[in-house]
Amino acid sequence: MASKKVTVKILGIVGTPIKNGNCQYQLETALKQAEETCHATTEIVHLRDYKLTFCIGCDKCMRRIHKIQAQVGYDVFPVPIEGYNCSINDGMDVLHQKMVEADAIILMAPVYIASIPGQVKTFIDRCRTFVHDFRLQDKVAAAMTVGFFRNAGQDTALDLMRTSLSALGLNVVSFGSAAVSTRDGLGVPIRETRFGVQEDLAGSVMMNIAVKRLVRMAVLIKAGKSAMDSDQITMIH
Ligand SMILES: Cc1cc2nc3c(=O)[nH]c(=O)nc-3n(C[C@H](O)[C@H](O)[C@H](O)COP(=O)(O)O)c2cc1C
Repeated sequence: MASKKVTVKILGIVGTPIKNGNCQYQLETALKQAEETCHATTEIVHLRDYKLTFCIGCDKCMRRIHKIQAQVGYDVFPVPIEGYNCSINDGMDVLHQKMVEADAIILMAPVYIASIPGQVKTFIDRCRTFVHDFRLQDKVAAAMTVGFFRNAGQDTALDLMRTSLSALGLNVVSFGSAAVSTRDGLGVPIRETRFGVQEDLAGSVMMNIAVKRLVRMAVLIKAGKSAMDSDQITMIH
């Protein structure tokens, strides 16, 4: 029997004000590794390239979801939303569309004061529609971070991102990865390179494990859904 190949689309989102920095380098490396599995195509977006304003808490996204649910039923998932579901017209419509079209998402952010940078939190808040419309329910996600020091907020940053991705309805399938951009994570920049993160072996190993898991789980979901369709397997939500 001829073997079928399943390819998944991975969207890498990097949230640092720095272009060509360590986070971008690390995410590009992760996406390259994903492509090397021959089961993934990838795209990277830099939050810095988009005009993102704070969520204003207007609840318009939620009210629209409730309105649609009242028409189609409360047990229809994902909620059939056409187009962009946010009252703010800035760069977010493009990002929402890319997220909906992806099979897997990697969120990469630097450690900022033992947490994530404000722009990444703003991006997450502006994704509120997904919490209620379940459009990301069959997608997988991973969180990644880079910091100066080995133990100065990487766990907190990762934890925040994993929890947020899961609140958005994504399936977080690995612990994620944390790397350092200074020699041995001691906070001393490496003079010879702009990308100190490439010298972090522990960080690279952790990232490689997270990437492989992400691709595997995305392929399993996509292949599983296709098998369900062809075998006419239905399920209760
Ligand atoms: C405002 C600010 C706060 C930071 N806070 C931390 C921190 O709490 N812990 C840490 O390990 N690194 C911290 N860093 C260092 C960055 O995480 C580190 O430089 C990282 O490599 C940045 O990646 P980038 O160049 O891709 O933006 C901070 C950097 C900035 C600018």
